[in-house]
Amino acid sequence: MKKKIIFSGIQPTGLLTIGNYIGALSQWEKLQKKYFCIYCIADLHALTIYQKKNILNNNILDVLSICLASGIDPKKSIIFIQSHVSQHTQLNWILNCFANFGVIKRMTQFKEKIYLNQNINVGLFSYPILMAADILLYQTYKVPVGKDQVQHIELVKDIARRFNNIYKKKIFTIPKKKLHENYGSCIMSLLSPFKKMSKSDNNKNNIITLFDNDFTIRKKIKHAITDSDNPPNIKFDLKNKPGISNLLIILSNITQISIKELEYNFQNKNYYDLKEFVINNLCLFLNKLRKKFFFYRKNEILLRKIMLNGAQKAEKYAKITLKKVYNIIGLNM
Ligand code: TYM
Repeated sequence: MKKKIIFSGIQPTGLLTIGNYIGALSQWEKLQKKYFCIYCIADLHALTIYQKKNILNNNILDVLSICLASGIDPKKSIIFIQSHVSQHTQLNWILNCFANFGVIKRMTQFKEKIYLNQNINVGLFSYPILMAADILLYQTYKVPVGKDQVQHIELVKDIARRFNNIYKKKIFTIPKKKLHENYGSCIMSLLSPFKKMSKSDNNKNNIITLFDNDFTIRKKIKHAITDSDNPPNIKFDLKNKPGISNLLIILSNITQISIKELEYNFQNKNYYDLKEFVINNLCLFLNKLRKKFFFYRKNEILLRKIMLNGAQKAEKYAKITLKKVYNIIGLNM
């Protein structure tokens, strides 16, 4: 039987966080066992914020290396750079003409970004329609993402349904979102555990990046918000103990010890013990990941081969869908 298709993307901007790893990359790796996975480094999405040429070039290679270090296997899956497959921008334009202006205007991420950003370009506004093109080109069954992308996926479904209905033909598969199963779909900020951990956070004490060294990890986790329960109580309770719960989620996902078992192991222990365990495991985990990262990052010839190969394979699939779209619209003479 043909394997169902998984598609997802990640932007090559800034330093990826442990949230990106747990919410997206760790899922991407696992899904390769059961599905045919297609992953893209969304460099065109990154242009919604001004990027310096050399920094963007380096970030693309860094993120590709992180994906490989996280276990994305180019022999099993396709990994490519979004701008290398021109069908993404071609379908993007067509879908612009099928997306409802009022609906896009209501996207929360857009509203948050215009609130914070002086440079409001049209790309920032139509960003989710490029995501729609990414996903719909590959007849995607499921899209593994963090919670912050859920509204975008709903929009993609909406656009796909609208298009299929207008032409009375199933041109696009309607994709489903796939959220992390072990509470990892929204890793929270260390100092404000009701807010998503985000690589663009101005206060870097809120985030653990994949490149933080042992000293920085120790400092940040030591400062992470817990609570003032007396006696200390290490319990998973998202509503009443968001800081402790966030640390338990991170810990569980990097050690593969269940949250229940962690709760059991930390009965009668204090927050110092929990934080020491988080620090030691995070350092261990990130040092291992970085060792793999440097192996790939140093080998640019290999990276370029993987990029080229990935784009060639992705293009084969993308062309099939785009041709169907051109035919049904009346663009193929
Ligand atoms: P980006 O680059 O912001 O984030 C990449 C992935 O990481 C997830 N993520 C998190 N998950 C859990 N906790 C967090 N704190 C956290 N922060 C980020 C995001 O949800 C995402 O899954 N627009 C997308 C990239 C993209 C894409 C696509 C995704 C482009 N085309 C098509 C899916 C399908 C983005 O900016 O992700």
